[in-house]
Amino acid sequence: MVEQDFIFKKVKLVNGFSSWESPSNIALIKYWGKYGEQLPENPSISFTLSECKTITKIYYRPKKEKEIDNFSFLFDGSLKPSFNNKINQFINRISIYIPAIKHHFFEIESHNTFPHSSGIASSASAMSSLALCFMEIEKQINTKISKLDFIKKASFLARLGSGSATRSIEGPIVYWGNSKAYDDSSLLYGTPLNNIASVFTTYQDTILIIDKNEKRVSSTLGHQLMKSNPYAKNRFIQANENMNQLKDVLIKGDLDNFIKIIELEALSLHAMMMTSSPSFILMQPNTLFVINEVYEFRKRTAIPICFTLDAGANIHLLYPHRFFKKVQNFIKEKVLKYCVSKQFINDHVGVGSKKI
Ligand code: DP6
Repeated sequence: MVEQDFIFKKVKLVNGFSSWESPSNIALIKYWGKYGEQLPENPSISFTLSECKTITKIYYRPKKEKEIDNFSFLFDGSLKPSFNNKINQFINRISIYIPAIKHHFFEIESHNTFPHSSGIASSASAMSSLALCFMEIEKQINTKISKLDFIKKASFLARLGSGSATRSIEGPIVYWGNSKAYDDSSLLYGTPLNNIASVFTTYQDTILIIDKNEKRVSSTLGHQLMKSNPYAKNRFIQANENMNQLKDVLIKGDLDNFIKIIELEALSLHAMMMTSSPSFILMQPNTLFVINEVYEFRKRTAIPICFTLDAGANIHLLYPHRFFKKVQNFIKEKVLKYCVSKQFINDHVGVGSKKI
């Protein structure tokens, strides 16, 4: 260590407010398996969404000497003790990078634009909006920082809350993790893709709600199970190869190969869950009925629609904007009966987070 390392950063004590909204994302190449402090075993890439987002506000003030906690958290106006551990861990992790945190108290308020009990993963939008609020606070209190560095550091911090959150700061497509396909890819933060065929900038994602229940396997446990999964090594190789192949597909707008890669990725993710010990089947019978309807519809109409899955039973239907009406009719006629309370959400590729 050098002398400089012992010098404490001066921290001003300030009252203030910060507010950001950040969207969810849907992975095309899936992140499943991590090591160290939130580092991915394989590269991933996702569409940033638009409508499904989290809005977070933080009021902050100097922390009183005797105060033990340094934050309070309200979700949709109510206390949510079950979220506190995750937020606490996040704040602890990022306080090394944001010195002001240790000296302030944060009143955090958050809400999602999508129904809480829809089985849609909210950690990407929740953690990215939180990371952005804390970056804003750091900027207000301590630092002059360029727009580019602000975004990069927000993505870096978001990763420490939830891996997939690192890909939610910008849009329309973001990659994360070391990949031969992209020279500027990083393990530490997400990078937006510049060279994309225009069809993908307005791509649709209709989310079919097949199961509203809380996930039966947390992502944290799922990632951990990859450490002993006998197929893990090959899965990481496969994800790298799929990243390489997808690169050209995204540039050229090659929808046939897009469909092949995206569906293979979704099923490979679930294959990993099914072959972990303990194993999990997160698809429901209705997930399979819908997948078969998608195959049949695609064959009959030649409309380039495909499905992908999160770590759950819900289905994301991905398709070009020009087929919106035809796909909506397909949904009403063929798949609505498989959705809980006939519920689905029309979302589309978006540009990323926004200060509000
Ligand atoms: C299946 O980002 O939720 O959605 O880093 O433990 O918070 P943590 O995991 P998380 O994992 C996401 C898994 C996935 C695939 C993906 O988004 O790439």
